[in-house]
Amino acid sequence: MEEKDILILAVESSCDETAAAVVRNGRQVLSNVISSQIALHTQFGGVVPEIASRKHMEKINQVIAQALTDAGVALEDITAIAVTYGPGLVGALLVGVAEAKAIAYGAGKPLVGVHHIEGHVSANYIENPDLEPPFACLIVSGGHTHLVIVRDYGEFEILGRTRDDAAGEAFDKVARAVGLGYPGGPKVDQAARQGNPHAMEFPRARVEGAPYDFSFSGLKSAVLNYINRAKMTGEEICVPDLAASFQNAVVEVLVERSVAAAREYDCKKLAIAGGVASNHALREAMKEACQRAGIRFYHPSPVFCTDNAAMIGAAAYYEYRKGTRHGWDLNAVPNLKLGER
Ligand code: KG4
Ligand code: ZN
Repeated sequence: MEEKDILILAVESSCDETAAAVVRNGRQVLSNVISSQIALHTQFGGVVPEIASRKHMEKINQVIAQALTDAGVALEDITAIAVTYGPGLVGALLVGVAEAKAIAYGAGKPLVGVHHIEGHVSANYIENPDLEPPFACLIVSGGHTHLVIVRDYGEFEILGRTRDDAAGEAFDKVARAVGLGYPGGPKVDQAARQGNPHAMEFPRARVEGAPYDFSFSGLKSAVLNYINRAKMTGEEICVPDLAASFQNAVVEVLVERSVAAAREYDCKKLAIAGGVASNHALREAMKEACQRAGIRFYHPSPVFCTDNAAMIGAAAYYEYRKGTRHGWDLNAVPNLKLGER
């Protein structure tokens, strides 16, 4: 007997993107609607949590309606409703969680709460039909930097994490310091294309006794010191060179540690995920290093790297199949740990 299609309506509102998507059987994206608040937060140089929650409330109904329309399905056709319930900004998460609960309750559908980072990892399943666990995965976003082995769908062995700033946070802070604006990652990525990655020498930090942990605060301070020194001496800063040199320092440690982990844990597959995974230099360097090491490299398209609901729908499919269901008491958990339920 042929198995019936499983259609997930997924909602994501953990930060500054109001998003909804319809995903079939975990891998086919029927619709992916993202309403970005970036322009709104740019004037403040970063995400303002209170404004983010209000904007989510304003947009969420139309974003969900659009996702259903784009997918050409009705709510009755949906198998389950999925929603990011953590980690993230509590007020922002609550909007999605309350909405998903209301829809699921009203339509009599099961509710599946999803971990945001599990979503980022699952973005890799969307365009890589052959990718199945186990594989190594580097998750680099604005709030997280994790190196994990994906043992099974939704099962993670955490090898390392950042001790201070997340990779994306370092990009954002450096971008702000040189006046590139918010969000910094794409701006640094763009500026670096015209720069020399070896123009300035910035530190690559190691964490004693933790080979797969990261630390970016020393690098960030070194860049800020460089900028301050240049300002004091009246020296002009070549922004593309600075962007490229900083980016090179980040990319080098990310690639080196990820490939070393894949090797040590005997993974022939390595994936990247999260907003920073759309960085050109990181993708290029990872591709080359994996080729040299005989490891197959996976990455989502940029639209599935930054926050979106399709990745939540992909993760929810595997959770749904495992039997994960949440009750009407599902709450937003701003500091939800990976692997926690
Ligand atoms: O995954 P994401 O959309 O949100 C979080 O879950 O945090 O990641 C956003 C982060 C921001 O720090 C942004 O600057 C960074 O990803 N980012 C990039 C690029 N695109 C987005 N960093 C480096 N290069 C990029 N091209
Ligand atoms: Zn994210």
